[in-house]
Amino acid sequence: MCGIVGYYGYRDCSDVLVDSLSKLEYRGYDSAGIAVFEDDKIKIAKTKGRLADLVDKMKTEGKPQGIAGIGHTRWATHGEPSDVNSHPHSGDNVTIVHNGIIENYKKLKDYLLSQGRSFVSDTDTEVVAQLLDFYYCRHHDPVRAIIETTEDLEGSFALGILFNDYPEYIFALRRESPLIVGVGENESFIASDVPAILKYTKNYYLLEHDEIAVLGKYGTKIYDLHYQKLDKELKTADWDMDAAEKCGYEHFMIKEINEQPVSVKTTITPRITDGMPDLSECGIDDEYLKNVKNIHVVACGTAMHAGMVGKYVMERLARVPVNVEIASEFRYKAPILSSDDLVIIISQSGETADSLAAMRLAKSMGAKTLGIVNAKGSSIAREADMLIYTLAGPEIAVASTKAYMVQLSVMYLFAFQLAYAKGRIDENKCRELVGLLQETPDKIAQVIENELENTQFVASKLICSDSLLYIGRGLDYALSMEGSLKLKEISYIHSEAYAAGELKHGTISLVTDGMPVIAIATQSELFEKTISNIKEVKARGAVTVVICRESVELSDDVADYVIKVPDFDDVLMPMLACVPLQLMAYYSALLRGNDVDKPRNLAKSVTVE
Ligand code: AGP
Repeated sequence: MCGIVGYYGYRDCSDVLVDSLSKLEYRGYDSAGIAVFEDDKIKIAKTKGRLADLVDKMKTEGKPQGIAGIGHTRWATHGEPSDVNSHPHSGDNVTIVHNGIIENYKKLKDYLLSQGRSFVSDTDTEVVAQLLDFYYCRHHDPVRAIIETTEDLEGSFALGILFNDYPEYIFALRRESPLIVGVGENESFIASDVPAILKYTKNYYLLEHDEIAVLGKYGTKIYDLHYQKLDKELKTADWDMDAAEKCGYEHFMIKEINEQPVSVKTTITPRITDGMPDLSECGIDDEYLKNVKNIHVVACGTAMHAGMVGKYVMERLARVPVNVEIASEFRYKAPILSSDDLVIIISQSGETADSLAAMRLAKSMGAKTLGIVNAKGSSIAREADMLIYTLAGPEIAVASTKAYMVQLSVMYLFAFQLAYAKGRIDENKCRELVGLLQETPDKIAQVIENELENTQFVASKLICSDSLLYIGRGLDYALSMEGSLKLKEISYIHSEAYAAGELKHGTISLVTDGMPVIAIATQSELFEKTISNIKEVKARGAVTVVICRESVELSDDVADYVIKVPDFDDVLMPMLACVPLQLMAYYSALLRGNDVDKPRNLAKSVTVE
């Protein structure tokens, strides 16, 4: 949550900060602010609202002019979104921006109050600004003040810092919350994520836990908490600029939906050798898989839904018990784990606080961990015992689409290799399944092309509803959870995903005249049963939208609206059927006039629990 940036160089600093923040708005967008050295004095512009509001404000009140500064886009944790709670925050000698949470801020604030310090905001960040100032006043050494402050802080944080006495420098610090230091020609950057700097440079240092960066006139120096200078490996981002731009699409979400065929292909191709799954580069081999007893998939939101599909596939093909858990529940429920267990953590950002904590817990209990992560170099990616990167490139829209799709593709490859290693499927079957997976990029593209208009039309029929249901059986049920989440997070229409066979046990009482029910009916073996459930809701007045195979003909007493996906193997159907669900959510949000990419109250990267 929250995006931070910083710049030192020869360009107009305010322009660079605003441009870089625009690439990080997905991390939070309830207020924005920048602080820039103008004639050796720090000038701050900040406001409640979007980055666009900050730009408007600077048009009327003036834009700070200078070459060094820091910026912030906020997702409020401590203190409501307001001008005064917006970052940057200052002490007499320092100004900072912050991403993360200071868990012991109350205790520190009480101490600082007892030392005669005063506060203007409700934020934990201002406590850090005052604490830094407190130490700095003792010796006027910025790095020492950062070290002393860090030693007092508990929680997760990434900070961008300006000291009044050092107008040609910016300082940064990282504990847990992500932070990179971009290195260009005669300029340097800090940012919470790579897309913020791609326009200027692809070279960056990844700050580790408790590392301090000093950027400025004499280049970049990185220190540890012992004030020792560190030699860090300079990394090069393999994303291009287009990854961080809309490239002609109206929203990132629709761009990312369209990127799915390529993302899947890019993700699976390097993990297939001679037609067989090959995850050896990720540290996974048949010998290890043969001995895995239980699998736990732990994740949040959409990533957890990818795990639900994985569960059905792994259990069906490999006959290994798979337990899917919400990370925030798993970490506090005293999970039962042994050294034969594998815990799979799925995360797009690789920084989700609950998922990261769950992984650390699993490791501490002796279980092996496998990270399935999209963001390179993120905490989960670095700490997992084994790692499969999903190669979707940056996902900017808050509503996850392509990241989910590539998580599914990895779940499939993993399940195929597991089933083969366990001797549950033979080589021919494994090859056949891998071959089918390789066909999915073209089929996904086909669904996007064929169903674009139809899903838009169906969405127009849903947008006046207060509430609706998603139903399905088996893999269709696992998928319906994601369909429902997608719709509610961006259209703000209430919806529930329900196992179709469970409706009669209570939920069907919600069905009244005109209530939309989206039924997913792609699983051949369960088809007739799902159709019976659809008829049951239709008989009670529901307006039904049925997602089914191309070859199926449905009568009017089943479906009011039909969305078709190509005939394909049952197991892989979720990869096709999820596309119309994404499109329906997208168009519903669009038609309701919502901010599709930045839905209210949400942030892309949930780094607080
Ligand atoms: C998806 O549309 C959501 N925005 C959200 O559920 C997300 O999947 C969840 O917060 C997990 O994030 P992660 O994949 O970065 O861990």
